[in-house]
Amino acid sequence: MTGVLQGRRVLLIIGGGIAAYKSLDLIRRLRDAGGQVRCVMTAGAQEFVTPLAAAALAGEKTYTDLFDRADEAAIGHIRLARDADCVVVAPATANLMGRMAQGLADDLATTVLLATRLPILIAPAMNPAMWAHPATRRNLATLEADGVHVVGPDSGPMAEPETGAGRMAEPMAIVAAVQGLFAQAGASGDAPLAGRHVLVTSGPTHEPIDPVRYIANRSSGRQGHAIATAAARAGARVTLVSGPVSIPAPPGVDLVPVETAREMKAAVDAALPADIAIFAAAVADWRTQQDAARKLKKDGSGPPALALVENPDILASVSAMAQGRPPLVVGFAAETHDVVALAKAKRARKGCDLIVANDVSAGSGVAGGVMGGARNAVHLIDAGDAVTSWPEMDKDAVAERLVAECIARLGAAGGQTGNGGGA
Ligand SMILES: Cc1cc2nc3c(=O)[nH]c(=O)nc-3n(C[C@H](O)[C@H](O)[C@H](O)COP(=O)(O)O)c2cc1C
Repeated sequence: MTGVLQGRRVLLIIGGGIAAYKSLDLIRRLRDAGGQVRCVMTAGAQEFVTPLAAAALAGEKTYTDLFDRADEAAIGHIRLARDADCVVVAPATANLMGRMAQGLADDLATTVLLATRLPILIAPAMNPAMWAHPATRRNLATLEADGVHVVGPDSGPMAEPETGAGRMAEPMAIVAAVQGLFAQAGASGDAPLAGRHVLVTSGPTHEPIDPVRYIANRSSGRQGHAIATAAARAGARVTLVSGPVSIPAPPGVDLVPVETAREMKAAVDAALPADIAIFAAAVADWRTQQDAARKLKKDGSGPPALALVENPDILASVSAMAQGRPPLVVGFAAETHDVVALAKAKRARKGCDLIVANDVSAGSGVAGGVMGGARNAVHLIDAGDAVTSWPEMDKDAVAERLVAECIARLGAAGGQTGNGGGA
C-alpha cells in the first residue's frame, strides 16, 4: 500500500491509553504510505509515550498545549484544525470520546476536534467493560451521528487480563481506513470506481426456529466487509448488505443490516441498480418451514422435526434479471471438496459472470481455517470456465485483488448506473 496516502496530511491526535505505543507505529505506517503526519498529544497520552518519540517519527514537532504562547503564535489551534486533510484520533480513549460527544474544548486535542471541519476518524481503544458501558455506547452513537468515522476496535487479548472488544485496530487497518476516507470523498485522485455503485453482501444469515433459536453458519463477514472496504477505497459508493456479524462496519459504506435470507434479498433488490454486485454472504440455503411464535419446549414427546424450505436464491435471481442486471455479478462458492469442479457448475447454474471459490474444509491448509479466519486461498472462475488460482493471502489482500479484477472487467463490460456519487 505504499504511496496510497501520497501527499495527504494527517493530523494524528494521540489519547491517553495503553495503545498509545501502537500510535508510534501508526505514524511510521502513515508515512510509509506517503502521508505527512503532525501529532497532537493529550496530557494522558504523555503518560504513555513522549512527544519527542512522536516528533522523531513524524519528522515534525508534537503539539501538546493549548496555552503555549510560542505555539499559538506560530501555528495556533485553529491552524492545526485546518492545515491537514483529515484528523485521526488513535487511541480514542473513552474519555476523549465522551469529551468529543459533549462538544467540550478543554485541552488542545478537543479544541482542535471541535474547530475542525475535516473528516475525523477515531480508533477507539479501551478495556472491554468501558467499551460496553452504556455511556460509551451513547457517545459512540452521537459521534457516528455527527459523521465521525470509526475503525475498530478489535476483539482479542488486551493488556488487561481480559479479552473482548476494545483493542485498538492494527495500524495497517487504520491506514486503510484513512485511505477509505479519501476514496469516499472522491478526492484521492486514484478513484477508478468514482461514480460507480458497488453492492456487496456479507456475513451469515440467521433463520429463526423460534423466538430464541436460529439456524446459522460460521461466516464472520470478514471477506465481504474487506471487499466493501476495498471498493470504497477505489472511490465507489458502496452498499453493504450484511447479516449479523461482530465486526464493525467499514468507514464510508452504507450498511444495511439484515438477519434472514429473505431480508437480505429485499435489501439487495432495494439497493439496485448497481454497476458491480458481489455476493460474498453465506446465505442459508434453507429456513424452517414454520418460525414458531413461542419457544419450543421439551414436552416429553421427543425432539421436534424441523421441516425446511428453500430460501430465495439471491445470486441466481440478480444474475437472471432481464432488465437492470448489474454489468458485473460476482458470486462466492464455499466448498469442502471438488472445489473447482463444483464452483464451475455453480457459476453456470447461477448465471453470474465470475465466481470466487474457496475450500472451507478443515483440511484446506489455510492457517486458522477460511470460515471465520483471517486468510483465504481462492480460485477465480469466469464465464469461459477459465480458472485463476491465487496464493493464500489475508482477506484484505483478496479483497483488493478482487476489486482490481472487477475494475478491469467492468471496463470491458462497460455500463454505468449513473447512480453513484452518494445519490
Ligand atoms: C495504565 C493505564 C492504562 C489506561 N488505558 C486506557 C485505555 O486503553 N483506554 C482508555 O479509554 N483509558 C485508559 N486509561 C484511562 C485514561 O488514561 C484516562 O481516562 C485519561 O483521563 C484519558 O485522557 P485523554 O482522553 O485526555 O487522553 C488508562 C489509564 C491507565 C493508568
